Amino acid sequence: MPPEVEVTTDETVLVVDDEVNLRKVLGTLLRRAGYSVRTAGDGIEALEVLSRESISVIVTDLKMPRMDGLALLKKIRSQRPDIPVILITAFGTVDRAVGAIKAGAFDFITKPFDRNEIKQIIAKAAQQYRLNQREVIPSEEEDLGPVDHAMGQRFGMVGSSPEMNQVYSIIERVANTPSTILITGESGTGKELVARALHENSDRKNQSFIRINCAAIPKDLVESELFGHERGAFTGAVNSKPGRFELANRGTLFLDEVSEIPLEIQVKLLRALQENQFERVGGVRTIDVEVRLIAATNQDLQQLIAEGRFREDLFYRLNVVPVALPPLRNRGHDIPAIIRHAIVRAAGRLGRAKPMMEDATLEALCQYSWPGNIRELENVVERMVLLSDNTTFGISDLPPEVLKGIQREVIGNDNASMDLEPGVFSLKEAVRQGRERIERELISRALEETGQNVTRAAQALEISRKSLQLKMKDLGFRDTDQTEDS
Ligand SMILES: Nc1ncnc2c1ncn2[C@@H]1O[C@H](COP(=O)(O)OP(=O)(O)OP(=O)(O)O)[C@@H](O)[C@H]1O
Ligand SMILES: [Mg+2]
Repeated sequence: MPPEVEVTTDETVLVVDDEVNLRKVLGTLLRRAGYSVRTAGDGIEALEVLSRESISVIVTDLKMPRMDGLALLKKIRSQRPDIPVILITAFGTVDRAVGAIKAGAFDFITKPFDRNEIKQIIAKAAQQYRLNQREVIPSEEEDLGPVDHAMGQRFGMVGSSPEMNQVYSIIERVANTPSTILITGESGTGKELVARALHENSDRKNQSFIRINCAAIPKDLVESELFGHERGAFTGAVNSKPGRFELANRGTLFLDEVSEIPLEIQVKLLRALQENQFERVGGVRTIDVEVRLIAATNQDLQQLIAEGRFREDLFYRLNVVPVALPPLRNRGHDIPAIIRHAIVRAAGRLGRAKPMMEDATLEALCQYSWPGNIRELENVVERMVLLSDNTTFGISDLPPEVLKGIQREVIGNDNASMDLEPGVFSLKEAVRQGRERIERELISRALEETGQNVTRAAQALEISRKSLQLKMKDLGFRDTDQTEDS
């Protein structure tokens, strides 16, 4: 399933249909989904609206008086190719749907409507419209650094999606407080970046920011890393040594991968947090500290609590202010900006000229699900900058595993015959295969419903018997025609 794309209200969808009822139904559905809606009764009216207003997506019926949907589509393609057009077709009219895609429609929706499908298609179309409005690579004068806000950057983070804006506003509100923060999010979503932003925007910023990665420390050394040890406390403790808590005194202590702290140390951590006191390993002196604690995890702590692997009381002590970082696939419209940012950085670091990127390549990268989130994106971009000699990145410059991932997501992986060779991948090919799949599906259904009667199936599909037979041959259907009078 394609990721849900979030909707902002500054997007206007133009609904074109001669039926008032249909305009109403679609209008209500789209308004509820957060879009502004304009309507028109036919193609001519639609073009009038378009000349006056800023429209992001057009949804149009096919059959209309004066100017029909296909004619409107052609006009839009030539005058405003940046606006995606979605056609409404009756269920079963395969040929027309296919014709529509060939004529450049973004997609089609079938009557009767499936609300979720419509919302998804419109959201994707709106995303496409946004992509069409953006330049991928910043111009020379617009570079990193001072353009913080212009590039949607805050606290060194790129992205202006509603999800990220929420993160920024939490940072703003809590950075300069002593409250404990628990940052959650998949690997590579920017947890450490947020922790640093919190520190940098507090009045502790001139004190130390101490990070401890609890996953990287052998279990039996976690306690001494956190709280320090006295000389001779254990084999190897030749000298006494302060722990991270002491080092972070008056500053910020960042407990990364906090789920990895062994249970028996969790008790000691809880006490240190509650009383601001602890003893070094092997020590008798109680040490007082004043530390602001930030913890991060990519694990589901509630789940770990249920499994008895994390203490509930510690969880509540850490989870005073939760900050949940969204996975990249849930904030699709941040992807172009993050790619742009990553390209500028990688090119700078590697001393290369900033490459450009073809629309199709950017589109493909926006389709990818980014399981490794921003870290993966940065690595992919760096590899492309490093390995490609092209000044403009095409689809073929994408690393193979990304191509494979996109193929899987765009055309589905449920059919082995759809595995494409990496490198020959193209979105056109994906669309062709997607279309074939729809045709195959509709034809099978029609044949099944009519007991393999090709004549009646053709009627149901609203195509001629002859073209159905041709199509069946093309798609490799067996000829099991049960039409009596054939
Ligand atoms: N919003 C963002 N804008 C730009 N770069 C980002 C953003 N978020 C993260 N990054 C970059 O992505 C990389 C991963 O970020 P970070 O290390 O903070 O993630 P993490 O959640 O701590 O990952 P892990 O769980 O793997 O430790 C870093 O190079 C960071 O600079
Ligand atoms: Mg991290």
